[in-house]
Amino acid sequence: MSKYIIEGGNRLRGELDVKGAKNSVLTLLAASVLTEEKVVLRNCPNISDVDTMLKILGKLGCKTQRDKDGTVIIDSSGLSSYKIPCDLAKELRSSIFLLGSLLSRLKRARVVYPGGCDIGLRPIDIHLAGLRELGIKIGEKHGHIDCDCTHARCADIVLDLPSVGATENLIMACVFLDGISVLRNCAKEPEIVDLQNFLNAMGAKVRGAGGSVITVEGVKSLHGVEYTPIPDRIVAGTYLIGAAMCGGELVIGNACAEHISSLIAKIPKSTCKIYPRDDKIFVSSEGRHKAVPKIETMYYPGFPTDLQAQMMALQSISDGTSVIVENIFETRFKTASQLCKMGADITVSGSTAVVRGAERLYGAQVTATDLRGGASLVLAAMAAQGVSEIDDIHHIDRGYEDLAEILPTVGVRISRVG
Ligand code: UD1
Repeated sequence: MSKYIIEGGNRLRGELDVKGAKNSVLTLLAASVLTEEKVVLRNCPNISDVDTMLKILGKLGCKTQRDKDGTVIIDSSGLSSYKIPCDLAKELRSSIFLLGSLLSRLKRARVVYPGGCDIGLRPIDIHLAGLRELGIKIGEKHGHIDCDCTHARCADIVLDLPSVGATENLIMACVFLDGISVLRNCAKEPEIVDLQNFLNAMGAKVRGAGGSVITVEGVKSLHGVEYTPIPDRIVAGTYLIGAAMCGGELVIGNACAEHISSLIAKIPKSTCKIYPRDDKIFVSSEGRHKAVPKIETMYYPGFPTDLQAQMMALQSISDGTSVIVENIFETRFKTASQLCKMGADITVSGSTAVVRGAERLYGAQVTATDLRGGASLVLAAMAAQGVSEIDDIHHIDRGYEDLAEILPTVGVRISRVG
């Protein structure tokens, strides 16, 4: 089992470039089976979730190629199977997005209940309810979900919650349906806009992404495309919080400040200056920051749940008390107990965590319990006094390229062992 060893206390100096967004790339890979022609995705991150998705596509009969420069090519002309392999689907929640795209392409799909981080229940009832509204027959037995869209037709659907995955799945399920489908109460995340842009570049007619009503006008077929996904806002936000915690001067390249405006709004201006310019964000941080009194996760453009754990690490060394409310996933405070091993003072009660800022954190042996929680521990270790050891970093590998290769370029003392 690999682990990170981090000696904390160094200020950051230099530039880190952000790759394409994990949550876009995974969806676009699923969407790539909507055409028989080649799809080329540029600047994809070298992370294990992308590996898993490519393996799943391979098992379904697609040919995939991944170059060192981050280019991924998918040729799904040989797509032959509609059954997503159980073992791989359990590793990766995004495999559920193949439901919409496989149904559109092959008229049938079989999936198992998906996996991903253990951060709460993560049901898929909204996905399935929407598909049923489209006239898709769904049978559930022995943990499998069998879908048949022989009699599918466009519909006007209201989502119970603005679920990112359900919005994306339903858009993909509608692209070939005759007429205009209307999706209401959609998620507004930038990754949804990216999916719309990607599909429209392939010849689809999707409108309204970024707002709550999305329309999909059915087309006969889609063609191949070469596309560069949006930068990963969560990775950019993680680097920004890292600079705030460690101090120093960091340039975050290939980043979109607007996509993390809810984070930037919560970073104290007096001690941490942030200047977005073109596709870069300049961060200059000095001294101890004031604690943010309240942080509440919310659907986009609210504060992202995927940056909650990293923000908790920052609050754990800020001056004062911060109350963090997690509104999206039920069990997303598991990292609090690990941060406490490093000297943080955090009390969790249900969906609320109270973080009383400590003067400093100390190196300790801690365990990553999920992807973003793992990133939070890396940040805490970078800012701590002494040496930390972080176990179970396979969680971190799901969404961050090897941090032991990336972070030393800006002064972090980190190595990977095992
Ligand atoms: C996506 C992101 C994930 C992010 C999350 C919220 C990907 C691959 N993952 O996950 O990183 O943390 O958005 O921004 O893009 N819900 C239901 N029923 C459903 C679907 C969702 O009740 O059928 C609930 C969930 O339990 C959760 C909320 O809706 O409370 C939001 O989930 P959703 O937006 O669907 O998240 P994901 O698409 O799984």
